[in-house]
Amino acid sequence: MDPVEEIKSRIDIVDLLREYMPLQQAGANYRARCPFHQEKTPSFMVSQPKQIWYCFGGCNDGGDIFKFVMKQEGVDFAESLRILAQRAGVQLQHQDPNVSSRKTRILDVLDHAAHAYAASLKKSPRAELARRYTQERGIGELIDDFLLGYSPSDGDVMAQYLLSKKFALQDIIDAGLAVKRERGYGSYDRFRGRLMIPIHDLYGHVVGFGGRILEEKEGSGSKYLNSPQTLAYDKSHIVFGLDRAKQEIRKQGFCILVEGYMDFFAVYQSGMQNVVASSGTALTADQVRIIKRFTTTFLFAFDADAAGGNATVRGIEIALSEGIRVKVIQLPREANGMPLYKDPDECIRKDPQAWRRAVQDAKGFLDFHFERVIVPCSRSRDPYEKQKAVRAFFSVLRIVPERITKDHWIKIVAHTLDISESVLWEEIGSRQDDIAQRAKEQKQPSGVSTPNREEAILSLLVADPTLVDSIRLIIDPEMFSNEVYRSVCAALYKEGSVHHLNGVDRLTMYAEYAYSTLDEQERKRTLSLLAVQMREQALKSRIQELRALMESAERSGDKEAVDKYAQEFSNLVTTGYTIKE
Ligand code: CTP
Ligand code: MN
Repeated sequence: MDPVEEIKSRIDIVDLLREYMPLQQAGANYRARCPFHQEKTPSFMVSQPKQIWYCFGGCNDGGDIFKFVMKQEGVDFAESLRILAQRAGVQLQHQDPNVSSRKTRILDVLDHAAHAYAASLKKSPRAELARRYTQERGIGELIDDFLLGYSPSDGDVMAQYLLSKKFALQDIIDAGLAVKRERGYGSYDRFRGRLMIPIHDLYGHVVGFGGRILEEKEGSGSKYLNSPQTLAYDKSHIVFGLDRAKQEIRKQGFCILVEGYMDFFAVYQSGMQNVVASSGTALTADQVRIIKRFTTTFLFAFDADAAGGNATVRGIEIALSEGIRVKVIQLPREANGMPLYKDPDECIRKDPQAWRRAVQDAKGFLDFHFERVIVPCSRSRDPYEKQKAVRAFFSVLRIVPERITKDHWIKIVAHTLDISESVLWEEIGSRQDDIAQRAKEQKQPSGVSTPNREEAILSLLVADPTLVDSIRLIIDPEMFSNEVYRSVCAALYKEGSVHHLNGVDRLTMYAEYAYSTLDEQERKRTLSLLAVQMREQALKSRIQELRALMESAERSGDKEAVDKYAQEFSNLVTTGYTIKE
């Protein structure tokens, strides 16, 4: 079987799209807010029987599962084929020119490397230290599940291995696994003597690695070394662990965000599998949007230190501006406010109960922020300190749209810092214009494109062929402006239905989209109105056409043609053309 057909037979469009957006059943079809642009009323339709989607809003575009993945992931057809083949468990032939793109070759290299690193961690006598390390860190049981590995410590073992598997050196370098020597020939391995943590994309492909040193001592390099940005690994896009967590995130209704790989593993092992890691970089808007396909509630569990706090605040701001409901998990502290554990990993290993409680008691982000920036300043007599604290708090409070929430917090801040409320209102409003501007930029035109009248008529007929007779005498198939519509109309008149004509799927979905709330009477009325308008329009343009035709026939002295057109003209004007000009 053709792989495209095979994949289509194994993946149901509704199952696939549900991972990206909530779908609501509407008759035989499903409907959703279009994931490709902002809109208030859903104009994105999915047909399960036909296995296609269409957006009647801003996009006016649609297609099958491949088209959806191409658009959603911003990839070409070859890549969408690969993504869906993996999901469907369909083996692609490598000779297939569709799958031999550069990115595909890089993914192939990475996949081979991941398995080789994993084999080395399990079997190599020289990986003893690495095996012991995984035991000490308590992640021994995750080795198989997460394909953890070990990169041998000498020169270019991995590159040599991959070359022996017939991969080209350039692809190995492009995959971020080897680095070209500046002098002389050849390359050396980027990762040497490290615990290898594969980074997967949403579809389970290995796109890169994080490599951790096994001993923290002089000269062992930085604690973590990560794959560089490559064709396969777009750092602003990939969220560590999301491929594993996505189902559970949807099920639990929220996502736990941690900073580190080790925190991820600890939370995952504690039984909370709805967790992802930002891997030390600041959370990006793209990452937030990707997680948002699965939930709109994020619980931040960042490190207890100042860096963790700052990362949390930045992450929160980005999440908030993407419309996420944000909470903060606070690790337990001593009475004097000192953190008891430095990160979720340590907390879970030492006191799993306390971790559970912390998750349950996750605070609203404003409570968190208030305690972080306002409380420490509460006894300050320095106006400059107060000013700084207020600015920091307002940078987050400002993003909240509700005035009541603002009022609530302004009162508390005023009281805590002993500042008058009116000044605080002025302060928070002073950048209000920025916000309004930003909101305006984000708001995209959400108007649904009106399909032309011909499309509307045909959709109504396709959706309910019993209406055909009510317009048979008003509309002639020849009045339609293109061949597809002419043949749809002719088929409806002749057979009372259409099944396999091109363009019909789109019409059916349009009917569902635009007319499903109308009852039969209303549909009929709409149809007759449209049909009469169309007839008038068609006759009007035919009359204009005839005038032009007659003129030119007269000029060229073709009397026969002039007579023929004049006849049709007078017929139209006397019998068919009823509106005043
Ligand atoms: N990180 C990095 N490079 C570093 C340090 C950190 O890329 N030199 C990233 C890693 O993704 C790491 C995350 O930042 O997981 C958080 O850093 P940290 O909290 O120091 O790491 P942990 O995951 O807690 O690792 P460990 O417990 O082994 O120290
Ligand atoms: Mn840690």
